[in-house]
Order: sequence, then structure tokens, then C-alpha cells
Amino acid sequence: MERTFIMVKPDGVERRLVGEIVRRFEQKGLRLVGMKLLWPDRELAENHYAVHRERPFFQDLVNFITGGPVVAMVWEGPNAVRLTRALIGATNPLDAAPGTIRGDFATEITTNLVHGSDSVETAEKEIALWFRPEELLR
Ligand code: TYD
Repeated sequence: MERTFIMVKPDGVERRLVGEIVRRFEQKGLRLVGMKLLWPDRELAENHYAVHRERPFFQDLVNFITGGPVVAMVWEGPNAVRLTRALIGATNPLDAAPGTIRGDFATEITTNLVHGSDSVETAEKEIALWFRPEELLR
């Protein structure tokens, strides 16, 4: 059994796509073990995207993620990291297949609606960054 961190980004909340995105993970058969709505501050956003600190798009990315409320979630299931990445689709919506969340609803690489951890190791770090242990189901 595996856990992964998923976030509906500010564009997804703004566009009322939270229900649609949650539905897709539920229908796949994953189990929701933590969920909260919050407005990330700069420190949290910079920590979350720390691996991209030197990239040219870093400031735009942090500005975007701190621009409105997000829905932070933890989903559990067999191969949860790879399964959720498959449902989310490629980073650039131009490359995201129809049927994926980004493929169906997004057009721009920054406003690509949803984040999903890219490995089990990253998932552990991101879950610890966004949630206290008591906020998650056992
Ligand atoms: P990344 O972790 O590579 O993608 P993913 O979200 O699919 O795991 O990048 C993080 C976010 O940074 C990505 O969702 C959108 C943004 N981004 C850009 O704005 N421009 C870029 O060239 C890249 C690679 C990412």
C-alpha cells in the first residue's frame, strides 16, 4: 500500500474542478486519507517546489501557487504514486492525453490544475510538509 500527495492548484479551485478531480481518484478506487482547503504562504510554496528553485519558471510558479486557495490531499492505494500521475497526465497539457485531468481540462503548463508527487520518496516529504500526522487517517 502506498500514499501520495495530491493538490488541486488555485486554478482548479477557481474553476470549480475540485469535485471532478476528486471523483476521478475515487472512481479509480483510491482511498482518501487526508484533505484540507488552505491558502499556501510563500514559505510553504517555496519548500514544496524547492527542487525547482534554480529554474527560470520558479518565481512564476510560486506566485501562481500562492495566488489562491488550494485543496491538499493524501490518497492511498496500490501504486498510488504512479496511478495518480497517470490520471493527472503529462506536465505540459499539450502532451497530456485526452482522458487525463490535464488532457481534458488544461491548456497551459503553469495553470495545469493539479499536482501529484512524482515518487514514493517525494510523496513522503510532501505529505510531511503539508499535513500533521494526526490529520491523516490510519
Ligand atoms: P514538474 O515537477 O516538472 O511537473 P509535474 O507538476 O508534472 O510533476 O514541474 C512542476 C510545475 O512547474 C509544473 O506542474 C508546472 C510548472 N512548470 C512550468 O511552469 N514550466 C516548466 O517548464 C516546467 C517543467 C514546469
